[in-house]
Amino acid sequence: MQQHCVGQHRVVRSAEVVHTGVEQLRLVTGRLEDLHERWGSVGAQDLGASVLEVARVLGCGPGHVTRWLAARHPSTVGIDLSPGMVALARERAPELTFQQGSMLDLAVDDGAWSAIVALYSVIHLTDEERATACREMARTLRPGGWLLLAFHVDSDEVSVGQVHRVTRWFGTDVELEAHFLEPEVVIGGVEAAGFRVMSRTEREPSPDVEYPSRRCYLLAQRRGPARK
Ligand SMILES: C[S@@+](CC[C@H](N)C(=O)[O-])C[C@H]1O[C@@H](n2cnc3c(N)ncnc32)[C@H](O)[C@@H]1O
Repeated sequence: MQQHCVGQHRVVRSAEVVHTGVEQLRLVTGRLEDLHERWGSVGAQDLGASVLEVARVLGCGPGHVTRWLAARHPSTVGIDLSPGMVALARERAPELTFQQGSMLDLAVDDGAWSAIVALYSVIHLTDEERATACREMARTLRPGGWLLLAFHVDSDEVSVGQVHRVTRWFGTDVELEAHFLEPEVVIGGVEAAGFRVMSRTEREPSPDVEYPSRRCYLLAQRRGPARK
């Protein structure tokens, strides 16, 4: 594994195999623990318990990441724009809560949540919509709350900054747009919305188990004093 610094962000380039969204989350949970070591002001109990006590997974898809988080933080709720995804997530985990909603307009009070996990959901947004989503995430997180964001950077067939248009997927006609994003651009948007990006992780794709893109994970904290 190679590590180097870009500005204030540590970049980890790793060939380690990270198979699923759940594994990705584990990787980022590791980043939280790492943060705790480097910034002693963030208490271990905060990281393990209260930070995620009001966690929301935005763009939860079929609910696998929500299930993983809810096993550790039972009040975790998954939210997705697609009623079909919400129905599938509910079918797979009837004991959990999944809601239909958009990260562009979240029906919740300011500062209501302590953590947001959004893996590969901002990739479907235009630049303008992504800015709106970042503001919405900043609004809904309490000061000191955590945001974990993941997105595709590039691949052999799609360059960074391009839009990947998919018309056929798993044998079905689809109309799907995925924005491959420059990490510095996303960091700029996240910070402009009111976050401080604490950690940036980039990784190579896992062969044969996922779309072969290079991926980026940002862990950001809502600016403002952390509540006890
Ligand atoms: C590529 S999937 C990722 C699913 C899951 N997070 C994962 O990592 O496997 C993107 C998901 O984002 C959802 N999505 C797209 N736009 C959204 C929006 N504005 N608000 C909430 N969810 C959205 C889609 O319906 C889809 O389920």
